[in-house]
Amino acid sequence: MTEPQPVYLKDYQPPAFRITHTELKFDLAPSNTRVTALLHLERHPDSQPGLPLILDGEKLSLQRIAIDGQELQEGEYRLDAETLTIEDAPDRLRLETEVEIDPAANTALEGLYLSNGMFCTQCEAQGFRRITYYLDRPDVMATFSTTVIGDREQLPVLLSNGNPVERGELPNGKHFATWEDPHPKPSYLFAVVAGSLEKVEDHFTTMSGREVLLQIWVEPENLDKTEHAMRSLKAAMVWDEQTYGREYDLDLFMIVAVNDFNMGAMENKGLNIFNSAAVLTHPQTATDAAYQRVEGVVGHEYFHNWSGNRVTCRDWFQLSLKEGFTVFRDQSFSADMNSAPVKRIEDVSYLRTAQFAEDAGPTAHPVRPDHYIEISNFYTLTIYEKGSEIVRMLRNLLGWDTFRQGSDLYFARFDGQAVTIEDFVGCMAEVSGLDLTQFMLWYSQAGTPEIDAHGEYDYAKAEYHLTLRQRTPATPGQPNKQPLHIPVRIGLVGTKSGEDLALTLNGSQGKQSLSEGGVLHLREAEQTFVLSDVAEAPVPSLLRGFSAPVKLRFPYGREDLSFLLQHDVDGFNRWDAGQRLAMLALDDLIAAHRNGVEKVMDVRLTEAFRGLLTAPEEDQAVLAEMLTLPSEAYIAEQQPVVDVDAIHAARVFVKQSLAVALRDEFLAIYQANQSDAVYAPSAEQIAQRSLKNVALSYLMSIEDERGVELAQQQFEAGHNMTDVRAALTLLVHSSRSDIAEPALRAFGEKWAHDPLVMDQWFSIQVTRPQPDALDRVKYLMAHPAFSLKNPNRVRALIGAFVNQNRINFHRLDGEGYELLADVVIKLNKLNPEIAARIITPLTRWRRFDEQRQALMKAQLERIRAEDLSPNVFEIVEKALA
Ligand code: ARG
Ligand code: ZN
Repeated sequence: MTEPQPVYLKDYQPPAFRITHTELKFDLAPSNTRVTALLHLERHPDSQPGLPLILDGEKLSLQRIAIDGQELQEGEYRLDAETLTIEDAPDRLRLETEVEIDPAANTALEGLYLSNGMFCTQCEAQGFRRITYYLDRPDVMATFSTTVIGDREQLPVLLSNGNPVERGELPNGKHFATWEDPHPKPSYLFAVVAGSLEKVEDHFTTMSGREVLLQIWVEPENLDKTEHAMRSLKAAMVWDEQTYGREYDLDLFMIVAVNDFNMGAMENKGLNIFNSAAVLTHPQTATDAAYQRVEGVVGHEYFHNWSGNRVTCRDWFQLSLKEGFTVFRDQSFSADMNSAPVKRIEDVSYLRTAQFAEDAGPTAHPVRPDHYIEISNFYTLTIYEKGSEIVRMLRNLLGWDTFRQGSDLYFARFDGQAVTIEDFVGCMAEVSGLDLTQFMLWYSQAGTPEIDAHGEYDYAKAEYHLTLRQRTPATPGQPNKQPLHIPVRIGLVGTKSGEDLALTLNGSQGKQSLSEGGVLHLREAEQTFVLSDVAEAPVPSLLRGFSAPVKLRFPYGREDLSFLLQHDVDGFNRWDAGQRLAMLALDDLIAAHRNGVEKVMDVRLTEAFRGLLTAPEEDQAVLAEMLTLPSEAYIAEQQPVVDVDAIHAARVFVKQSLAVALRDEFLAIYQANQSDAVYAPSAEQIAQRSLKNVALSYLMSIEDERGVELAQQQFEAGHNMTDVRAALTLLVHSSRSDIAEPALRAFGEKWAHDPLVMDQWFSIQVTRPQPDALDRVKYLMAHPAFSLKNPNRVRALIGAFVNQNRINFHRLDGEGYELLADVVIKLNKLNPEIAARIITPLTRWRRFDEQRQALMKAQLERIRAEDLSPNVFEIVEKALA
């Protein structure tokens, strides 16, 4: 077998041909769908004359091919596993092909596939080539006209992009619908859906008065779960008009919920297709977190209509052009809809835990990669989340108004085009006059920059000297890094006043007031910033709002951190001070555990928590975040060698010590936040519930009788899934099977009919810290509600175990690793995209002790010996390199 080869950004060539119009006909049947395509092709004006016409196509069975009505004979075209080549194509032609495909056999969920008897598509990035022969690349944009034919009884609903123009009856119990999409689009935005679906409708009037019909299509049993998605959609449409001046451009906007979906959702023009988990909610079945995810994903896909669809990517190396910008837009939307500081805390926690780990591992890659083997492997935290941070830095460097001008210019100048990251950043440079040359390194350099900060206060001169040293560690293929342009937002908090001091920067151009935001521009490897007129000794508050995606070290003492926790006006940094304080305590305890000495709780941490609990923050939502200890995954990221057991033991010890010392305070918080209000996913209610449930988790950490009683009551009262799930998790994660088993059984029986709730039931069990977790995974893999073919099930059961149950996944007998490798080997055949994702924890083997390294590596080698998909091949090769 020949190894899959990488594609390089430097080899980009414009297409030899373009397609002005695409006419498609689908005759749907589960195992033999017939797709007829009529492509209006013409030679691209910029291409070299005489180049052959090479169309992409995979897993297609060609039935017929004709040019301008003339059938082609064998020898007039060439076929291989991935292409159809026509050597001497005319400069302008109509190419007609007819292929047969097998949606029922499509377990990769790429191209046209069946989900619960319903036909649907996923074309991004390269799924369209599994539907028909095409120039399947984002810089080929065509208008589409699509006719879908299907069985009238089984497939009453036939959808595609754009506007419905015709429908009618056909012989043999069939019917058809024809759709026209007037907006030229690349093939990755194409979609077809056919099934027995029902809809919920609403209306939206755009800012220029266009009436838009909004539809959410679901399976009949889910009709009562669409309200929040619809509300979120309308909120997103208003928000994009008000915030970015972006208006919707068709008369119809549809969302479809499907059960089998590799990712969260897809922004197909006018016909967004969603993983049911990212669209369906009901107070009894979905948690607050799920409600917020739905709001975020509905916003994300809707915002793509401009940042992605109207202006798209020239090639897939530019993926972050649409994803980074759109994540930034959806994060801002969610921040505006809910608690902004909590949204920031959540996003940063995720970035620092998961993206930083990616950046520090064997699959580290720049936000704009320069090569790939399998593009599906690049829908990563780096492209999405770090990409969003880069856009956020631009916003912060330019200020909102100028950033918005840059955004307007970008959309106006490149509307209808497929462009590059330079085009986007170029608009930002043009409107601001800033030189963003050095800033562009953020897109090409992988790895998380580290800043060592050092500060000195000079009483005599009333000056504060802040020295910042940056370095970015080597990543695969990038041994040497250059200094980046890093915006470091700071404040100086007076130790006497407890208030922010005015910032005057003493630079080469004389004194400059930093009052507007206090952003320092770090550009050199090392730079000292002199702040003058500093009237009292300050504690610096650094990287406020997490102004850049970096690791910043500063030798804070515990007193400094307690002080910032109380006084910092920056909500994010107040939270971060608490996290740093907890980390100092955890570090000592991890060392104690490893050295076998008695663990002693840090009283300053206890006192800081007492302060939080007794003089509550005004923002209850932020308080709940502050009371949450750093996760095991985050703690692991801070260790040179990850000691799984010591981390777990230290964290449990801190949690229990706090619970013992502050039992009454936690109880009081729990009681104060009980509520009988009708469920609403409002910021206030969510804050209340999270505060209450955090408090309960402390009480349950010591399995205090009162805590057990409250958890059982909360579980049985069953007000909403947030409270039920929180209580069930605490019961099931306790050491007491007498309280765990009955609750688990009751929940499992009650929700056996609802797959999204059963996913929660799976996750809760396999994340329990008790030593039987791995056996449960095996047992549950045989459960009738589980299937390796459904990505949500795989994530809920396998994903939760390998990512969120660290002590059990990393068992020293290696059984956790073996189980994951078994799953990867099966998924490699069924669904390569999911296989290549679920394998992630094994790729991080170098972070662990020697014994675990050997065990993990052995499993990677076992996987490598298989006949691998390009997806898994690429990841395993990198992991073992
Ligand atoms: N563009 C989609 C989104 O971010 C993601 C689609 C990714 N598809 C895939 N097969 N990897 O909203
Ligand atoms: Zn996206």
